[in-house]
Amino acid sequence: KRKGFIFDLDGVIVDTAKYHFLAWKNLANSLGFDFTEAQNEQLKGVSRVDSLNKILAWGNTTVSEEKFQALMTLKNDEYLGYIDKMGDSEILVDVPKVLDFLIANNQGVSLGSASKNARRILEKVNLISKFETIVDGNDVTKAKPDPEVFLNAAASIHCNPEDCVVFEDSVAGVQAANTANMISIGIGSKDVLHEADYIFNDFSEISEHFLNELIYK
Ligand code: G6P
Ligand code: MG
Repeated sequence: KRKGFIFDLDGVIVDTAKYHFLAWKNLANSLGFDFTEAQNEQLKGVSRVDSLNKILAWGNTTVSEEKFQALMTLKNDEYLGYIDKMGDSEILVDVPKVLDFLIANNQGVSLGSASKNARRILEKVNLISKFETIVDGNDVTKAKPDPEVFLNAAASIHCNPEDCVVFEDSVAGVQAANTANMISIGIGSKDVLHEADYIFNDFSEISEHFLNELIYK
């Protein structure tokens, strides 16, 4: 059977949250307020625009539309500086193993990410060739928890939503997968991702036996 396996990028394939954190923190500091790790947690799966809106609200700051655009560019330029230094060593544990298993078993493999930098990151870590299709922040109008990104990813690999499985590390992403009628697999903590159908700390806990069950279900 051919099922669709859709991967979120940030926090599932690579840990880019630490780079988002550095860039957002410097931006907040330049505006005269601080930005904490706990706040950074709340930006997982949240688009760049929505992230900046939240940060400005946390800092009780308002800016003109022009300044807002300039801040987005500033943040992304710093973020890309970190991204461009990334390599294969930053791929999260056992991700290539799971991707290769799915590909060897003729499953549909797609990326469903809110990031506009998804292609650049996948190229940096040499994983771009593993994905049949990529749906990212440049292709969608509605952010997670809206299911648009995953529905588009499913369509791009010619799979019905009910035949798709989503790997996600964010609450909004798990909700998007659930709303899309897909099987949601949370990668991270049970406390945070309890809405997911299955939860694992990382891909080392995902066995071939479990993947086969998803395929033949
Ligand atoms: C992912 C990350 C978010 C990030 C968003 C947009 O969902 O988890 O923290 O804000 O992508 O990323 P971008 O690379 O387009 O700024
Ligand atoms: Mg994520």
